[in-house]
Amino acid sequence: MNRLPLAISLLALSVSAAHWVFSTRAQAPAAVTKPPNVDFERHVEPQLDLGKCEGEHAVDDLDDLMKHRFNPILTKISFELYHGQKEVPERLEEVTKHAENLLGCIAQVPRLKQDLDPERTEDFYKLLSAMQGNVLGLHTASSEFNEEASRHWFGHLRQDCSACHIRFNPHQAEAP
Ligand code: HEC
Repeated sequence: MNRLPLAISLLALSVSAAHWVFSTRAQAPAAVTKPPNVDFERHVEPQLDLGKCEGEHAVDDLDDLMKHRFNPILTKISFELYHGQKEVPERLEEVTKHAENLLGCIAQVPRLKQDLDPERTEDFYKLLSAMQGNVLGLHTASSEFNEEASRHWFGHLRQDCSACHIRFNPHQAEAP
């Protein structure tokens, strides 16, 4: 890995905003609280500088992001947590990378989801913030090589996918 390992703490999820404090292990306690409230971006931290949202196909809309990023990343994490053949530290190191990538992808959502009914915007971003919180939890657990905690956060993460799809995915019936 060419990135510094990051220890991330989720401080608080308020009704309309998520506030995160980050500290690097190397430079504790230089915590930075992101400035809040730029329109819809207040709901999700857009620039975590953690992941680039990498994947195999180009992403032009939310459907692409879901199919070519969210979904395969979730599958890869599940594989490492439950089916990987390597030693635990190696598998959790992979999980940490995938979690970072997923955080980068979450940050792409506000740019790609522009057709929200204003009355439902809050709800949508609350669900996305909840997911972000659980990916951060997973990231912390996997970077501490805690397999049990990683599986715990992963369980929540799975539920976040369905929670949002029930309300917002028009193709819910076809969803995996
Ligand atoms: C905050 C809301 C939200 C969250 C959280 C979310 N999705 Fe989605 N997802 C959507 C919406 C909306 C669509 C429909 C996109 C479209 O077609 O425009 C969608 C579509 C999809 C699709 C395309 C197939 C289908 O059912 O249409 C897949 C696959 C998918 N999501 C996977 C995931 C996975 C895996 C997660 C969790 C890691 C996840 N999503 C989390 C909102 C969400």
